[in-house]
Amino acid sequence: MAAPPNLIAAVDEARQWDRLMRMAQLGAIPGDGVNRPCLSPLDREARRLLIGWARELGLTVATDGLANLFLRHEGTDPDAAPVLTGSHMDSQPNGGRFDGIWGVLAGLEAVQAIREAGIATRRPIEVVAWTNEEGGRFAPGCMGSMAWSGFRPADSWDSVTDAAGTTFRAALEEHLAAEADLPRRPFGTPRPHAYVEAHIEQGPRLEAGGLDIGIVTGIQGSRWFTVEIHGRTDHAGTTPLGQRKDAVQDMLRAIAALNALTHDPADVLRFTVGRVEVFPNASNTVANLARFSIDLRHPDKDVLLKRGDAIPGVIQAALRGCTATVTETFHALPVTFRPEVPDAVERAAAAQGLKSLRMPSGAFHDAQFLVPLCPSGMIFVPCRDGVSHHPSEYSSPEQLARGTRVLAAALVELAGA
Ligand code: GLV
Ligand code: MN
Ligand code: MN
Ligand code: MN
Repeated sequence: MAAPPNLIAAVDEARQWDRLMRMAQLGAIPGDGVNRPCLSPLDREARRLLIGWARELGLTVATDGLANLFLRHEGTDPDAAPVLTGSHMDSQPNGGRFDGIWGVLAGLEAVQAIREAGIATRRPIEVVAWTNEEGGRFAPGCMGSMAWSGFRPADSWDSVTDAAGTTFRAALEEHLAAEADLPRRPFGTPRPHAYVEAHIEQGPRLEAGGLDIGIVTGIQGSRWFTVEIHGRTDHAGTTPLGQRKDAVQDMLRAIAALNALTHDPADVLRFTVGRVEVFPNASNTVANLARFSIDLRHPDKDVLLKRGDAIPGVIQAALRGCTATVTETFHALPVTFRPEVPDAVERAAAAQGLKSLRMPSGAFHDAQFLVPLCPSGMIFVPCRDGVSHHPSEYSSPEQLARGTRVLAAALVELAGA
C-alpha cells in the first residue's frame, strides 16, 4: 500500500535528529556516548523531556506499575485496540546515542507526521518507552515488557540490586513517586492490535549490503546466568597453593570450561562473560568470592536449552576447591514474528523505493515479549560499522529518517482508515 505522499514529507529529519541530540546530552559520556541508567535521575529527566514533547503535540500520557510510559494518539474509534510502537530510553553503561531511544523518538516523529499530514486512523496509536530494556543497572533487561506482557510477575525483580546496593523495588518506588501525576494503567492494557519497534541494527549486514531497511523476521533466544564461586580469603604471601580455595582461579577454570562447552565453529552460538566482580578485591588476599555473568544466545531453541542446561554441571566439574552457585536470571526463547507486521514493513519500504532485507535479530528486544499478545515486528536501520553498545554507535540523520518514514507508513496501514 502506497503511503500518502504528504505523510512521507511530514517526517522531519532535522526535528528527529535535534530531539535525538537533546536526549544524548542526558548522560553524555566522552566519545559521543551515553550512560543513562534506568530509573536514574537522568532517566527521569529524559522521560520528562519526552512527556513535554508529547504533550505539546496533544498526546495523552500514562504509566503503569513498572514505569512503562505510554503516549497516546487518539483514533477515530477510541475503543479500538491500539497499534503500539516504541522501544526503550535506558542505555548501556558505555552505550551510544541511538540504541533504544531512537525507537521511542521515531514513534513520536511518526505520530507527529501522521497528525501534521491530517491522516485519521481508526485505531489509536500509542508510543511506548519500556522500562529497563538494557539490564545495565538492574539485570536482566526487558523487565518492563516482560511484566507488561505477563511473561513474568511484576515483583520478580524486587530484590535485584544495582552496583550501589539499591534494590530495583526501591528505585522503582522512588521513580513512580516522582511520576505520581501520571495516570497508572493495569499491565497489558489496552491490549494492542499490533506492535512495531524501530531500532538500529546493531550489526553490520545492512551497511555492508548497501541497504536501507531491515525487516526483522524474529529474535534469537537468550539465557542469562549469574555465577558465584565461593572460596576462602587467605594471605597471598604465605598460603601454599595446595591449601587455597581461590575463587579467582576457579572462576578462570570455569570460564575456560564454558568456552569449550560453547565453542561453535559456525559462530552461531554466542557466549559472553561481560561482568566480573571479585571480593574482597585486594592485591595481597586470595579472593573468597568471584561473581560473573553469562549471556548465551542461539536462534535454535534446542541448542539454547541443551547448552544452557549443561552450564551448571560444567562449572561444578571445573572447580578445584571452591563451590559454586548458578542462578538463571533471564530466559527468552527464540521468537519468529507472524507475517502481518513484517509484511506491512516490507510494503512500506518497497512503496518508498527503499532497499530492504528480511533478517533475524541477534540482539534481544522488547518486541519478543509482545509476540504472544499481538502481531509484532521490528524495523532496523543500518549503523556505522555495525557498532553498538559503544559510544561511537552512529546512524545518520538520513538513515534514521528513512526508518521513521517506513514506520509511519506501516503504522498508518496497521491502524487502518
Ligand atoms: C540488548 O541490548 C541485547 O543485549 O541484546
Ligand atoms: Mn536497544
Ligand atoms: Mn542495547
Ligand atoms: Mn536491546
